[in-house]
Amino acid sequence: MPTMEQGDSSMLYLNGAFMALEQGRIAVEDRGFQLGDGVYEVLKVDAGKLLWMEDHLDRLLWSLGEIRLHEALEGHPLHSILPRLVESSGVVRGSVYVQVTRGVAPRDFLFPERTSPTVLAYAQEEEFVGADELLAGITLHAVEDIRWARCDIKSTNLLAAVLAKQAAREAGAGEVLYVSPEGLVREGGSSNVFVFLDGVLRTHPASNRILNGITRQHVLELARGLAITVDETAVQFDDLIRAEEVFIASTTRDVMPVVGVSAPDRDYLTLSGGRPGPVTLRLADAMRAAIAVELGAPSPTMLGSS
Ligand SMILES: Cc1ncc(COP(=O)(O)O)c(C=O)c1O
Repeated sequence: MPTMEQGDSSMLYLNGAFMALEQGRIAVEDRGFQLGDGVYEVLKVDAGKLLWMEDHLDRLLWSLGEIRLHEALEGHPLHSILPRLVESSGVVRGSVYVQVTRGVAPRDFLFPERTSPTVLAYAQEEEFVGADELLAGITLHAVEDIRWARCDIKSTNLLAAVLAKQAAREAGAGEVLYVSPEGLVREGGSSNVFVFLDGVLRTHPASNRILNGITRQHVLELARGLAITVDETAVQFDDLIRAEEVFIASTTRDVMPVVGVSAPDRDYLTLSGGRPGPVTLRLADAMRAAIAVELGAPSPTMLGSS
């Protein structure tokens, strides 16, 4: 097995071998490539360490179970490979992408008789959201949620997300807002949505209609710790508009204030009074502190909010 060299910032692990990212090759008949028959995870790297790795690996195993690929990681050393990848890549602030597919087989919808899964992971440098960006907030673009009914599986079938994200970008927004045909707020394009409404922090329940974000789960825990009343029931789009505060949460953006929303059939609307609200800032600070504790790093309070 080729060894890893220190400080190669594009190190790839692919099916038992380490190589530069550009050297990775996936077969034409990989089921992930042809059928989207796979699942993935994105983990945050901060201070050169992986954040909440166990949570992400648990969700990866759960996703694999849901697509009947339980055996893919049986006895697999992914737990030790991921930290080694981060260390050898020299990535201090960034992310690790992990993907597992049902492997290479002649193209057929049915499962191959013998599966040899494709397992890959790589670490990359990434800019995190800075204080200015955080205080400016983000805008959402609402689209009807046309994804499948198993959004709880972190599947590599992301075509609906690709189209929605592109539509949001073309509308000048920073993130997608998926709304159900009944007008319920589901989640962001790659984030969960929180609404502080009538003094209660509301977010969509962890059902088949959303991905139960790792960050979402930590936000809920932090909110309860701060004695903020939490209710995991979905809000209507009209409630989002009149909410005191709105924010999104995800691995790459932590807690990010939302200041406006557009939709194909509506004028742009200001949300949260057009600036990050106090509850959002408290949670953003609490999140930063929790991450610092987890990583064993010092935690300056970036926003000075309380
Ligand atoms: C659809 C969707 N919802 C929510 C999230 C947030 O999940 P996490 O906090 O685990 O990053 C993601 C992350 O990519 C996502 O793709």
